[in-house]
Amino acid sequence: MSRSRATLRTFDFDRDWESVQSVWARCGPGVQFSRSDAPEEIRKKLERDPDLFLVAEAGDAIVGAVMGGFDGRRGLVYHLAVVPEQRRRGIGVALMAEVEARLKARGCLKCYLLVTRENAAVVDFYRSLGWGVMDMFLMGKELA
Ligand SMILES: CC(C)(COP(=O)(O)OP(=O)(O)OC[C@H]1O[C@@H](n2cnc3c(N)ncnc32)[C@H](O)[C@@H]1OP(=O)(O)O)[C@@H](O)C(=O)NCCC(=O)NCCS
Repeated sequence: MSRSRATLRTFDFDRDWESVQSVWARCGPGVQFSRSDAPEEIRKKLERDPDLFLVAEAGDAIVGAVMGGFDGRRGLVYHLAVVPEQRRRGIGVALMAEVEARLKARGCLKCYLLVTRENAAVVDFYRSLGWGVMDMFLMGKELA
């Protein structure tokens, strides 16, 4: 498979939101949505980390995206996705390299990401990028 001609850039809500939603929608159960992905929540998030939400563009189409976050101590990477017809061309690796570089530039020493149990096949992808599986429970609580 040929490598990608996709270019990466920072997400722009007004220009990209619809396209990114459709990329995520096409990327299966590995990308799970919650009420934190409502447009008003994404806008809120962008006030904090505008530089950590990236898109990959091929021609004039958005073909991939990743959303990073930094809380001042740890980083988080959410919703990495590449549309099926553009996979295995290096776009996923490029998106991860760029979001990691931007997190590092912000002073982040360590970051996390979540993989659902049904999506365990993707663990090898992340391992190849230096990520390791952590042996602990993930806990959550709804605050509002
Ligand atoms: C995971 C995902 C983003 C990878 O994107 P991609 O652009 O195809 O990845 P790349 O082309 O950069 O992959 C580079 C290498 O990673 C490995 N790799 C890629 N996808 C893989 C997968 N699903 N499983 C195992 N290894 C994989 C391969 O070694 C590949 O190199 P190769 O093509 O030379 O064999 C894409 O498969 C996707 O969108 N999946 C659905 C959504 C998802 O599950 N996201 C993760 C949420 S935690």
